[in-house]
Amino acid sequence: GWTMESFIDKEIERIRTLVGPKGQVIGAVSGGVDSSVAAKLMHEAIGDRFHAIMVDNGVLRLNEAQQVHKMLCEDLGVNLTVVDASDLFLGKLKGVTDPEQKRKIIGNTFIEVFEEKATEIEQQVKEAGGDYGEIEWLLQGTLYPDVIESISFKGPSATIKTHHNVGGLLDDMKLKLIEPLRELFKDEVRALGRLLKIPEHLVGRHPFPGPGLAIRILGEVTREQVRIAQQADYIFIDEIRKAGLYDQISQAFCALLPVRAVGVQGDRRTYEQVICLRAVKTEDFMTADWFDFPPAVLRKMSNRITNEVQGVNRVVMDITSKPPGTVEWL
Ligand code: XMP
Repeated sequence: GWTMESFIDKEIERIRTLVGPKGQVIGAVSGGVDSSVAAKLMHEAIGDRFHAIMVDNGVLRLNEAQQVHKMLCEDLGVNLTVVDASDLFLGKLKGVTDPEQKRKIIGNTFIEVFEEKATEIEQQVKEAGGDYGEIEWLLQGTLYPDVIESISFKGPSATIKTHHNVGGLLDDMKLKLIEPLRELFKDEVRALGRLLKIPEHLVGRHPFPGPGLAIRILGEVTREQVRIAQQADYIFIDEIRKAGLYDQISQAFCALLPVRAVGVQGDRRTYEQVICLRAVKTEDFMTADWFDFPPAVLRKMSNRITNEVQGVNRVVMDITSKPPGTVEWL
């Protein structure tokens, strides 16, 4: 019968045959479940002939790039290069407030940075010679539902919002696509990740959008706004985990609203920003319900965010289902 152990063995064999004894594979990792599991599987199959790239676009979660490097590279041995391109991304995002424009800029800049790094790695690989052939393959962590969606229909999020991908690389770099997860559903990818010894907190992680905090910061994305969004998000998720609620929630994040509110601190009047808490439960992200936190948990979150995040004096909660709302604010 079909077991996850036999899937791993078969898939590793398939990858080795496909890539050949000297073949090279390149791929992007994001810190999400799918790309991490795909990367670890690839590492098991061909070791350092798989080259992972993580692009720090400046709108990731707090300390995300460092944590992914520690986990994937130091702990799991994946051959990973982290590129800090935050200045480039934030430069291009300067003055931009339109959400679709933000998505386009981040998607296009991602491809640009990824291609440049890939070309650099290709050069190094050539110079190293020896056991190494050319980079011919691009890893993608595509799941079965993605395959179905792209064949049969375009869901609302695909048509209403532009989800970025690295499809252009296939033509530009003449890379062939390798998709080890293409027959799996999300829960199967999680089971696979556990067997591959990927830490539980990563395997069970909520999804995070490609355009990152840029679509959770309403209005212009600046370093200062990113700092506020990162710190608030860190506290929110930390309290969710401490309350033991993380696994009951499908996705949770803070939105930084484009308004200021009057507040008071000591005997001083403040005029600062507003953080909105958003947590949803959903099966498929096409529809979603807002998550009902116990009041004591909300109180703790609100106190911590207003006390610890400089520049925020008010916390509100989003109690909108999807539809009519979407999960994200932008
Ligand atoms: P919405 O806001 O459309 O979100 O209800 C549904 C799911 O899709 C994610 N999402 C994105 N993911 N790039 C992504 O990679 C995007 O541009 C994007 N927009 C929304 C969202 O986080 C939720 O999980």
